[in-house]
Amino acid sequence: MKITMIGTGYVGLVTGTCFAEFGHHVTCVDKLSDKIDRLLAGEIPIYEPGLEALVAKNSQEGRLSFTTDLGKAVAGAEAVFIAVGTPSSRRGDGYADLTYIYEASKEIASFLQGYTVIIDKSTVPVGTARQVARIIKEVNPEADFDVASNPEFLREGAAIADFMRPDRVVLGVETDRAETLLRAVYQPLYLQETPIVKTSIETAELTKYAANAFLATKISFINEMALLCDATGADVVALARGIGMDGRIGAKFLHPGPGYGGSCFPKDTMALMRIAQENGESLRVVEAAIEANGAQKAKMVKKIRDMLGGSEAGKTIAVLGLTFKPETDDMRDSPSITILPALLEKGAVIRAHDPQGMEEARQLLPDSIIYTSNSYEACKGADAVIIMTEWNQYRALDLERLGSVMKQKIFIDLRNVYQPDLVKEKGFRYDGVGRS
Ligand code: UDX
Repeated sequence: MKITMIGTGYVGLVTGTCFAEFGHHVTCVDKLSDKIDRLLAGEIPIYEPGLEALVAKNSQEGRLSFTTDLGKAVAGAEAVFIAVGTPSSRRGDGYADLTYIYEASKEIASFLQGYTVIIDKSTVPVGTARQVARIIKEVNPEADFDVASNPEFLREGAAIADFMRPDRVVLGVETDRAETLLRAVYQPLYLQETPIVKTSIETAELTKYAANAFLATKISFINEMALLCDATGADVVALARGIGMDGRIGAKFLHPGPGYGGSCFPKDTMALMRIAQENGESLRVVEAAIEANGAQKAKMVKKIRDMLGGSEAGKTIAVLGLTFKPETDDMRDSPSITILPALLEKGAVIRAHDPQGMEEARQLLPDSIIYTSNSYEACKGADAVIIMTEWNQYRALDLERLGSVMKQKIFIDLRNVYQPDLVKEKGFRYDGVGRS
């Protein structure tokens, strides 16, 4: 099948490449000629394990191409996926900015040839697909097309596996023709019996927000339980096991930390709250999850201050991990963006390391941060070390070596990666999240 992917951001590039891997012929379009040039040269603009090899393979085998020429890419395509960005609006009110979606719809319209399904892959508010249809009709009344919504649930760092082995595929369609075409797109998943959930277009649009909001709520819930464990002397890791084994609750997404971040949860929970307000409803549970996430980051600053004896002024803090999660170079809404400036403001000196995120961190974090080449370098002369992101390389640190280069042996494990007793045995004072 001939597929066009508009937008070569995170979702567009991964989805387009995986569709090519399915055997479809995919053209990825982007307005940024620089990006397209880099992709044509085999350079991948994001860090995502396995993606580079998959792009190279499918490009070589002639199923994946990149262009800035939208007209050429859309003409003759049977399915056109819109995967452009939907950032939070610049007004700062939490609404999703749909400018790029509507621009793309306008531009596609005049190039459509024959029956085409235009599919929203980006996370968009309810009603967006209808707007896309209206725009296309306005620009090209003759166009033979349907719109559909097919939200993406992939996680950064595990995107290819998530795409190739999804828990489910949600198809928001309203004609048999569009449904048949989209089922054909996902036909390669048939063998592994991936469930296809067919819904109305509006339901599919809302399903993506609901999934992200539910997961964000689950994290905020366990983060609050962790605070309560800290206050009462209970252990949140054992508590999470104790509740997670109940099949109705499930063990996933019950890991406390410094708060959720990334390109989806913060933005999508806010957007969902706005969608509800616009429709005369209030989502109090989601609102509370957002508020708890903000509070969690502030509590982490306090935890660090307490461990340093009540003041971070003049103290050197080693921070291991800056990205919002491991296996990505993405810093968007990472807890480090809130926590580190708060520590610096109170006079701390920060020495940081991240395997992939330091380049982006330099753009987003205060200049005074000292970036180092590895964990031990970061810990040189430090009063405390913080595990901010649970990269694999921070999971088995040589604690003796670490302690030998530090000024004070204080270990703050914001991802609960270590067994407290093992760290204490090495002479450290230890604190995790909910493990007091
Ligand atoms: C998320 C959704 O999982 C995915 O389905 C959707 O398509 C996009 O948003 P992603 O943002 O890549 O994916 O990462 P995810 O693994 O979900 O983690 C999001 C944030 O929650 C990270 O900051 C992570 O550290 C945090 N998290 C996750 C926790 O603090 N605890 C957990 O138990 C799980």
